[in-house]
Amino acid sequence: MKAIIIEEYGDASVLKEADVDVPKIKADQVLLEVYATSVNPIDWKIREGYLKDGISLDFPIILGWDAAGIVKEVGNKVTSVKPGDRIFTRPATTSQGTYAEYVPVDESRLAKLPDSISFTEAAAVPLAGLTAWQCLFDFGKLQKDQKVLIHAGSGGVGSFTIQFAKHAGAYVATTASEKNKALVHDLGADQFINYNEEDFEKVLSNYDLVVDTLGGDILDKSMNVLRSGGKLVSVSGQPDQEKAKQKDIEADFLWLRENGKQLAEIASLMESGKVKSVIGSYYPLTAEGLKEAHQLSETGHSKGKIVIEVKK
Ligand SMILES: NC(=O)c1ccc[n+]([C@@H]2O[C@H](COP(=O)([O-])OP(=O)(O)OC[C@H]3O[C@@H](n4cnc5c(N)ncnc54)[C@H](OP(=O)(O)O)[C@@H]3O)[C@@H](O)[C@H]2O)c1
Repeated sequence: MKAIIIEEYGDASVLKEADVDVPKIKADQVLLEVYATSVNPIDWKIREGYLKDGISLDFPIILGWDAAGIVKEVGNKVTSVKPGDRIFTRPATTSQGTYAEYVPVDESRLAKLPDSISFTEAAAVPLAGLTAWQCLFDFGKLQKDQKVLIHAGSGGVGSFTIQFAKHAGAYVATTASEKNKALVHDLGADQFINYNEEDFEKVLSNYDLVVDTLGGDILDKSMNVLRSGGKLVSVSGQPDQEKAKQKDIEADFLWLRENGKQLAEIASLMESGKVKSVIGSYYPLTAEGLKEAHQLSETGHSKGKIVIEVKK
């Protein structure tokens, strides 16, 4: 099968097209024929070797951990899907990623995909959508009428976080740049803060929850907009626990967990038109396509999700 692999860590030039064996599946896995995948910052962070101490993968590595497609084969313990079913998934972080025509997927990490959702829309969801969901609901326990600040509302994670928070009945403020103002309002944001012109810390106060995807100073300053007893979750850095204690807030780093049941809940929100994927760019499954897609993601200024079309 065709796959885009890396045989060493490095810049985008290490991405190569290769002809590799179709993966073998275990009893509790399905073999997914991939129609679309998407690029997330973790892909190029692993490619560069930045995460090698925490995520140790054997070369050659097929990067990519989002996919939508059709079940080709099922292991003998699989009961929820059959060959021919449309599914989407955030598979486990292994060397057999989704920049490929086929990928093995654990049954617990997939969800069925309603016919009304295209493979490209679906491939944009799993990693970013699950992260958004787990920040707001598993960690944040977000309630109706609460106030949430979502950083980088125009990004992959942020664009889903805004929509889920609005669906839960929260008041949403988000940081983004001027070019993305219309987008974040369209997604439902109540308050737009242009991060180039305004300091969110001076504009907002008494918030119940902050979802941080940027880390560093932004993570640190985010503590100042929370009420006593408020919560801060970051997917990009470790909050200062001493400062959190002084401010009487709960602050933590979250690493997403693959979860087919939550994906099914997201699929039903998409099916009913309450949530949509924001796709800023499409590339083909070629070494050149992936190089360009990685370089765009690495700028930190891509809009919504970057989708890779594997099969049309
Ligand atoms: N821990 C986990 O499990 C987990 C899971 C998912 C993601 N993450 C991490 O979370 C981060 C975000 O992921 P992502 O997929 O959402 O990234 P992304 O799609 O690449 O984010 C890009 C967006 O960030 C916006 N942005 C950049 N600088 C900003 C600033 N100073 N203030 C507000 N917005 C800003 C950009 O808007 P402009 O173009 O307008 O600047 C752009 O739309 C990454 O570091 C990723 O690795 C971690």
